[in-house]
Amino acid sequence: MTESPTPAEHWESQYAERAQRWSGRVNATTADVVRTLTPGDALELGCGEGGDAVWLAEQGWRVTAVDISATAVARGAAGAASRGIGDRVTWVSHDLSTWAPEGEFDLVTASFFHSTVELARTEILRRAAGRLRPGGHLLLVSHVFETVADIPPWALRHHGTVDPDDPALQAHMKALLTPSEEVTALALDPTHWVVVTQEIRTREATGPDGAETATVKDGVVLLRRR
Ligand SMILES: C[S@@+](CC[C@H](N)C(=O)[O-])C[C@H]1O[C@@H](n2cnc3c(N)ncnc32)[C@H](O)[C@@H]1O
Repeated sequence: MTESPTPAEHWESQYAERAQRWSGRVNATTADVVRTLTPGDALELGCGEGGDAVWLAEQGWRVTAVDISATAVARGAAGAASRGIGDRVTWVSHDLSTWAPEGEFDLVTASFFHSTVELARTEILRRAAGRLRPGGHLLLVSHVFETVADIPPWALRHHGTVDPDDPALQAHMKALLTPSEEVTALALDPTHWVVVTQEIRTREATGPDGAETATVKDGVVLLRRR
């Protein structure tokens, strides 16, 4: 019997199978929200190949960017160095379920911090939120897949099925929380936290081949520490 891969093995193989997995650009919805904030110290959870972290640094943030995949983090660091902002991002290759952030931050951000393998998402988000300074923000931008029709065709193909009843697909969709479910799951004390934004936004997305497009839904949760 073959054992299931650990989360680190899973994500390493996801990145190793191609030279570049994501677009390299900042996530549009994340950028839209961050533009409303004043730059300071940012912690990015599940930074992947660093598209958001590099953009944040270019906007004046000092960034700590963490991902479980050493390959992804190395790509992010190379990208930051090539754009001349290598000194503004600290890259950390670690499993966030066992990583305790040091220091304090003005922004904790997580874009599409999802996984089809084990991920203690809410626990990780709560721990990171605890490192925010008063007035700091927690920003979560997430996929909202309420029905299979919400999933762009290229993501469905990557998942390996277009069968809406596929159990693995159903389990993945169920694990994705809507913004209101996310706020409930975080269970942050309202005496200390303000819900600034809790909404679903739609946008036109382009697939990895650069030609295919689809309308996608992004869940946005922005919380401010009082
Ligand atoms: C769907 S990708 C999103 C990547 C990036 N934020 C973006 O928007 O392009 C999820 C990321 O979370 C990372 N990840 C998953 N589980 C993790 C964990 N336990 N600790 C740290 N990173 C993790 C993966 O390696 C992957 O890069």
